[in-house]
Order: sequence, then C-alpha cells, then structure tokens
Amino acid sequence: MPFEWTHKHLLGLEYLTAEEITHILDTAESLHEVSMRSIKKVPYLRGKVVVNLFFEPSTRTALSFKLAATRMSADVLDFSKATSSAAKGETLVDTAKNIEAMGIDIVVVRHPVPGAAHRLAEMLDASIVNAGDGAHEHPTQGLLDIFSIRRKLGKIEGLTVAIVGDIAHSRVARSNIWGLTKLGAQVICVGPPTLVPGALRDMGAEISYRLDDVLPECDVVNMLRIQQERQGALNFPSLREYSRLFGLNAERMKKAKPDVIIMHPGPMNRGVEITPDVADGNRSIILEQVTNGLATRMAVFYLVSGGAQDDSAVD
Ligand code: CP
Repeated sequence: MPFEWTHKHLLGLEYLTAEEITHILDTAESLHEVSMRSIKKVPYLRGKVVVNLFFEPSTRTALSFKLAATRMSADVLDFSKATSSAAKGETLVDTAKNIEAMGIDIVVVRHPVPGAAHRLAEMLDASIVNAGDGAHEHPTQGLLDIFSIRRKLGKIEGLTVAIVGDIAHSRVARSNIWGLTKLGAQVICVGPPTLVPGALRDMGAEISYRLDDVLPECDVVNMLRIQQERQGALNFPSLREYSRLFGLNAERMKKAKPDVIIMHPGPMNRGVEITPDVADGNRSIILEQVTNGLATRMAVFYLVSGGAQDDSAVD
C-alpha cells in the first residue's frame, strides 16, 4: 500500500514518526538523480509560488531552498529582513499575511524566535517549512544530515553519533537528536556542561563532557559551531580552552574509528571546533551534506505540496 503523507507543514522532526522521516529520506533518494541530469528540472511545483522569508542571515539554507524550488519548477520570491518593511517595524505575521495575499503556496521561514514557524502555520493558509526558529529546530538540516549518514553508511539504526559543541543554542542538534533517535541511532551530546543541558536526556540523548572518551566508539561525529551571537558572554573560559578540550584536530582523530565520518552543518569556525585538515580531510562529508540538502529540500517541497497524492511521480 502506498505511504500516505498527511502533513501540510514541516515544523520540526519532533512531530514526525520514524516512518514519516524514512519516507522523506526515500523521496529525497528518488529526487537526488534530478541534479545529475543535464536538464536539472522536474515539473512537480509548476504553477506554485514559494517565498523564502529569512529574518536571519543564511548562505546554505536560503540558496538550497531557492535552488530546490527552482528545480521543482516553482516561481520563487526572496525576502530578507534588512531590505524589507520589517526593518520599519512590521510584525512577522503582518509581513507573512501581506506576502501570502500575493498568492503564495509555500512559505519557507527562518526567524530568531522559537515557534515562529508554528505561529505562521496557525495564521496562514500556505504550507510552512521551518528553515530554523531560534534554538528550537532546523528540520531540513536534521533531515539532510540523516540522509547524508544513510547514503554514506547505508543505515541509521544501531549507529553511534556524537554531536559535539554548543548543543544548548543549537537547533541543528535538536532536529538531529529527534530524527536520529527515532530511527534507532544512539546519540551522545558532547561538550562543556554549560553547553550541554541535562534536559537532552529527555529527548533520548546521552551526555558526555569528555570528547576523548566518546570518540573511539563513534560511527559519526557531527561538530557544531560555537554560536557566539546567541550566547552573549562565552559559556567557557576561552576559545583556546574550548579547542583544546573539544576541537577536532589530526591528533584527536587518531582516537577515532578509521572509517568514522565527520560532519558539520556550517558555517564553520575553522581552528575553533575543527581544524582545516580535518574539515577538508578524507573522513569529512561536509560538502556532501550541502549537496544532499538540495534533494532533501526538494523532497520536503514535494510532500508538503501534496505530491504524494500521485505516487508514480517520483518512481
Ligand atoms: N547550516 C545552515 O543552516 O547554514 P546557513 O546558516 O548558512 O543557512
């Protein structure tokens, strides 16, 4: 029996079942080959309009959503806070409702306030895709990370995945934890106690304050950026001290499994959480993550826009 996709929005991986997450990954696998064609375009969003509503800076996510929508044949509008009337004090909901009045089908939103995407889902008729809401969730980053692991290692269940660094301020970590634990991976959050809250255990993650103890058992190590813009003051003595205890460098890599894969959602602080030789080394899949983001976001567009009503479309 064909899988029935029932979600109009993608707000977070917390709200999806393991079966639904797997269906997104399988759909992304089907769409991945579109980017290998000479004509990189499919008609699934023809006649639909997507707006990228970004209230925070972005390189990877904004461009990847734009390219994904373009490859699906949608019309795409771009909004950035700095050049809009939001800079004159217009509220998020007023901005979104005015844009929706132009006839929008899908709103991709990144906003510094947790729950912003949920608010738009309540207020608008369009499908809402969360591109990062404060420190809450970044579901398409979680999906593309999990898709990248599955492509590289062939499975998720039974793997040990360390997420290292500033977990407290990381929406990427939260989406990864929800998604990976639902699919049967063991997730260990590693960092200084000030950046690894105990409440992560309630999400199914384990906690460690010593990267050197955890590294030998990991199949995947996902390094996170220190988000100084969300922290205010540093939550540890110095960046130098942080790098010494939690940075991934060639010396520390000797403790890891030889076939470990190294990930980072970007943007990287080279020389802080990861050294350039490791970031660019043969165990790194950091740029593959970016490539895989495209198919993952195409799959999300396909599903939230009702594409699964015609299952033959991505066979
Ligand atoms: N990984 C990620 O969200 O990167 P951007 O902030 O560049 O979109």
